[in-house]
Amino acid sequence: MSGHDPAVRAAENYRAFAAEAHGRSPQYEELARAVAGDPLVLRFLYRLPAAKRQPNLLFAVARYLLGQPADITSLRTLVRDRGGELAAAMHARRTQTNEPARCATLLPAIAQLPQPVALLEVGASAGLTLLPDRYSYDYNGRRLTGTDKDAPVLACDARGPAPIPAAVPEVCWRAGLDLNPIDVTSDADVRWLECLLWPGETGREERLAAAVEAARRDPPPVYRGDLLTDLPRLADQAPPGVTLVIFHSAVLAYLSMPQRARFATAVAALDAVWLSNEAPGVLPGSAVGADDQRDFVLVRDGGTPLAVTDSHGTWLDWLS
Ligand SMILES: C[S@@+](CC[C@H](N)C(=O)[O-])C[C@H]1O[C@@H](n2cnc3c(N)ncnc32)[C@H](O)[C@@H]1O
Repeated sequence: MSGHDPAVRAAENYRAFAAEAHGRSPQYEELARAVAGDPLVLRFLYRLPAAKRQPNLLFAVARYLLGQPADITSLRTLVRDRGGELAAAMHARRTQTNEPARCATLLPAIAQLPQPVALLEVGASAGLTLLPDRYSYDYNGRRLTGTDKDAPVLACDARGPAPIPAAVPEVCWRAGLDLNPIDVTSDADVRWLECLLWPGETGREERLAAAVEAARRDPPPVYRGDLLTDLPRLADQAPPGVTLVIFHSAVLAYLSMPQRARFATAVAALDAVWLSNEAPGVLPGSAVGADDQRDFVLVRDGGTPLAVTDSHGTWLDWLS
């Protein structure tokens, strides 16, 4: 077997995932290591298209079908006895984790802008990151109350000279765009979001459930479309005379480098503020300040890094 062998590459992916899960999800760390050394599961994976071999997708679909997170024994049984069903579900599904806590790392940047703001999120999944004004926040004891008093309180450790605002932003319009919008009012869709979480990550399930409840009280519109082609048309719908903020988190990695460059050119042509919250280097030139691939970098208008942020929104380190 060589490094070009799909089974070898899949094994490497699963070992890299195990490193990513280290300290976050011992169960998935162990599972990913076991998959990397399991010929049965690796053979199953390399019959799938490369984009469908990701650990996150396999583990979430297995959880969906099994009703609980897999271990290597239950995963092997699933592959052996229900391999066709597992493959079909992996073909049909995408990883669309929607982490509402990312709003806590976006909030200072949005609140700095002239208010009110119109929010347009590309890659919005279920729209839970489109609600920064509805959630409440706790930044190291500094509390902000959102417009929905029953929405979750997002705790975030703010480091550096973070401009924590006195109030949540005033949002006058919001819209999301996604290749495959998740319907927050559908129990089946919400179950898929739950399955995308990693076992052992404290607080995420409760936060997701509370954010889903908040979103269901007044669902944010998420339109089906491709951020490469449908952005200008949606941006045109924003009301005039307000600050249009186009933002995204954990999205651009799904695009090739030339596609990311095309997207950057398209956003720059719009009369909008652009906030990108992605892993270092995903947006060209954005590796600044981050020393861990698990962190994100919050960048304004494609060239100004504002903060290094936890990819799950639990801390932010504002750059001076
Ligand atoms: C990992 S989720 C992130 C969701 C949300 N932004 C968050 O931070 O919680 C990535 C989302 O991007 C969407 N996506 C990927 N490529 C896209 C494209 N070309 N156009 C629109 N949406 C896209 C996926 O369908 C998925 O819902």
